[in-house]
Amino acid sequence: MGFVSSNNQQHLLSKIATDGGHGENSSYFDGWKAYDSDPYHPTGNPDGVIQMGLAENQLCFDLIEEWVVNNPKASICTAEGAGDFMDTAIFQDYHGLPEFREGVANFMAKVRGDRVRFDPDRIVMSGGATGAHEMLVFCLADPGDAFLVPTPYYPGFDRDLRWRTGVQLVPVPCESSNHFKITGEALEAAFRRAKDANIRVKGLLITNPSNPLGTILGKSTMRDILSFITRNNIHLVLDEIYAATVFSQPRFTSIAEIVEKERGSNSINTDLIHIVYSLSKDLGFPGFRVGIVYSYNDAVTSCARKMSSFGLVSTQTQHLLAAMLSDNDFVGKFIAESGKRLAKRHEDFTKGLAQVGIGSLESNAGLFFWMDLRRLLKEPTPEAELALWKVIVHEVKLNVSPGVSFHCSEPGWFRVCFANMDDDTMRVALRRIRSFVAKRKAMEGPAKRQCWRSNLRINLSFRRKDDIAMMSPHSPLTSPLVRART
Ligand SMILES: Cc1ncc(COP(=O)(O)O)c(C=O)c1O
Repeated sequence: MGFVSSNNQQHLLSKIATDGGHGENSSYFDGWKAYDSDPYHPTGNPDGVIQMGLAENQLCFDLIEEWVVNNPKASICTAEGAGDFMDTAIFQDYHGLPEFREGVANFMAKVRGDRVRFDPDRIVMSGGATGAHEMLVFCLADPGDAFLVPTPYYPGFDRDLRWRTGVQLVPVPCESSNHFKITGEALEAAFRRAKDANIRVKGLLITNPSNPLGTILGKSTMRDILSFITRNNIHLVLDEIYAATVFSQPRFTSIAEIVEKERGSNSINTDLIHIVYSLSKDLGFPGFRVGIVYSYNDAVTSCARKMSSFGLVSTQTQHLLAAMLSDNDFVGKFIAESGKRLAKRHEDFTKGLAQVGIGSLESNAGLFFWMDLRRLLKEPTPEAELALWKVIVHEVKLNVSPGVSFHCSEPGWFRVCFANMDDDTMRVALRRIRSFVAKRKAMEGPAKRQCWRSNLRINLSFRRKDDIAMMSPHSPLTSPLVRART
């Protein structure tokens, strides 16, 4: 290091190494850096930044730990499990352990209410959903080809789908006037725009449930999407990484259910349909790097399996998960309890914000919600959104993620993650944002304050009236003692 100037590096290294395509310079990652340099700790650093930019499910680790303690044979580093150490350590087949594929297929079915079956022979593993997306793109498209992606979308897609493959992403703008729903017209318009620009569209990528919106696709939207991809003969990649985070009605419908129902009817071409899954969100194991490609296309499954050599899941992890994911008592209890805890966290947070007039998009899934701070913008521009975001990160000390980093076409929306912290940290975060908004409102004139009141009415209209009555004046969320600290 140090001998070669960055200009010289351009000649010495590949385009991938020097073109900045990783996307690390986005505000999404800047927020993480702000957190890393000043992380909140209740006693060690109580004024530090609270991490609310990380979509992690940490609410059920007590259940996981209990299972691990009760199943010592599942680990190869225990007295009970050490007998399997050698066989596990020397296994190197890229198909993966058969019992692991069966466990994953079982878990994927349970997450979808056992309404659908998954064939263990189609389970292809990869390094997280990150690796699964890239692997699929390598199978489906060539450099210069494009995938349509409805906005707002997960910022990592810019890296995962594009960086090393040379594929482009074409945004399909969705808007708040329509609750950010994906419409057939928006898909057709984006497809036409790409065609006019001589870009070959190979597929459509949809995340269901959505990150960052926390919403799920309705049946009619699914139908629109399927008829769009069939008409244009392009692939459909469904990222269902948040399938088990749906915490209230309406229930989640997986694309797998539709495929199973329509199979043989000629209404859809199943060769065009591919699911990306992972254990990073539903189970909360991003560190295990378990990603899955589940394609209904035999050639894609076969090619992806060969490619999976580049990102296999370690057999130690496979061995443990094979036992955990085929334990139906545990899986059933985990999915039910996780849903309950996510629902409560979501409700506590969104209700606490609604009390000070902060709205959010109505949602029933995910580890986050989509917060509406349009009223706090000086003007409706991405620059004004980023200026507000800087205040929230550096002064309010909350690392929420700005809509612009999700390619949202409308400034003023922010993603707030709520499942990666304990209850006490959640209360501190809520207090901080409530007091920030209260101060901002106090600085505004009476006309704008009236606006906040009507905003509050709109946002509460979809919530049950008794929810509000249930907020006790002694609740830690409203306590003056708590408020006095921030
Ligand atoms: C929609 C979506 N897809 C993929 C990923 C990447 O997941 P993994 O940790 O399994 O690579 C994420 C992570 O946040 C995500 O939100």
